[in-house]
Amino acid sequence: MNAPSALPALRTPLTERLGCRYPIVQTAMGWIADARLVAATCNAGGFGFLAAATLPADKLEAEIAKTRQLTDRPFGINFHMFQPNAAQVIELTIKHRLRAVSYGRGPDQATIKRFKDAGVLCMPTVGAVKHAVKAVELGADIVTVQGAEGGGHTGSVPTTLLLPQVLDAVRVPVVAAGGFYNGRGLAGALAFGAAGIAMGTRFLMTADSPVPRETLQKYLDVNDPARIRVSTAVDGLPQRMIDNPFLLRLERGGALHRLLVALLSAWRWKARTGMSVAHMLRTALTALREGDSAAQTIMAANAPVLIQRAMVEGRPDEGVLPSGQVAAAIDRLPTVAELLRAIVEEAELRLAALPPLPVPLPQGERERTTPHPLATARTAEVRREAGMPEPLGGGRGRGEVQL
Ligand SMILES: Cc1cc2nc3c(=O)[nH]c(=O)nc-3n(C[C@H](O)[C@H](O)[C@H](O)COP(=O)(O)O)c2cc1C
Repeated sequence: MNAPSALPALRTPLTERLGCRYPIVQTAMGWIADARLVAATCNAGGFGFLAAATLPADKLEAEIAKTRQLTDRPFGINFHMFQPNAAQVIELTIKHRLRAVSYGRGPDQATIKRFKDAGVLCMPTVGAVKHAVKAVELGADIVTVQGAEGGGHTGSVPTTLLLPQVLDAVRVPVVAAGGFYNGRGLAGALAFGAAGIAMGTRFLMTADSPVPRETLQKYLDVNDPARIRVSTAVDGLPQRMIDNPFLLRLERGGALHRLLVALLSAWRWKARTGMSVAHMLRTALTALREGDSAAQTIMAANAPVLIQRAMVEGRPDEGVLPSGQVAAAIDRLPTVAELLRAIVEEAELRLAALPPLPVPLPQGERERTTPHPLATARTAEVRREAGMPEPLGGGRGRGEVQL
């Protein structure tokens, strides 16, 4: 059953298909997007994705069940085809009839068809126009477009350029990601023609995030977007992270140092990757002989292990801190409910402030204006129906809502 969106302008093909109140998606983040964060998002009117890539096989179904206990709203799951238990994620997604799956390196056409036949929406994240087109050819129902400023693995084209290009290239609803954190962004994305926004870093930086305070403080402390930069040192792929001494050591340490770090990570990760020690050593030897691609295979274990140190163990200086550049613009940790309320509030204000369109009138009559189609009536009745509080600070003049 679809929850009605609070306000007409915020009711989009995304809210209709995902069954959420607001066109706001909490994206998956390894170690972070757990049952609690996902349920908090869904209960607050957004749509959350569980991060399955870092969930061990024996914990996966329990985490799905926990999410179900914490919310009666639909939610989704995120996975990668190269994770060892990808087949298990696919089966459990279908068994539990989750509303949507998100993925980067995605499943094949046959698997996508299985999802679709089971009523599971396929919602890949892409960082390039050609990947968006390909994803839709393979059967994607909705595409999330992540611009370069986004956190974690990311492309090189900023959201403001990538989003309109993808909107022009595909005929499915497009969700904008990379750099979003407030209602201005939501209003802007809708004005571009997107069906909603998706955010990672903004949800990481909430009171409902499981990330330890020591690590969250590093995210709060950074206020220069240039310090949140892209590096390939972790797993060979471009990944955006907050600069820290650990990352610098990884980058400056040279190939052998990186290989040693990767071997250590692979050792710790082997229970989940299923990599035997012999396989690991063979891959390491090939990596030394052949360079890049084999090295990348073994470095794949780096990302989860090095991120875990910061995100789970609370040792931010001994691991890496994936983040969108948007962390530099965030200095508070609201609850997810406060966050979504403020975003919706501000988006409404921005949309209502769009210049009215002139109405053509018969000659002799005074010119009238009509609200911009994106703008919405903000009646007390609508607010009450949506369970929204009175405007923050009595409605700020420039439509700015502080989080
Ligand atoms: C700490 C962190 C971990 C992430 N882990 C994953 C992941 O496991 N799977 C995935 O598809 N994307 C992952 N991402 C990317 C996010 O889902 C999302 O696409 C991105 O954060 C959006 O950009 P934003 O941070 O500017 O909102 C991660 C991002 C961050 C910041």
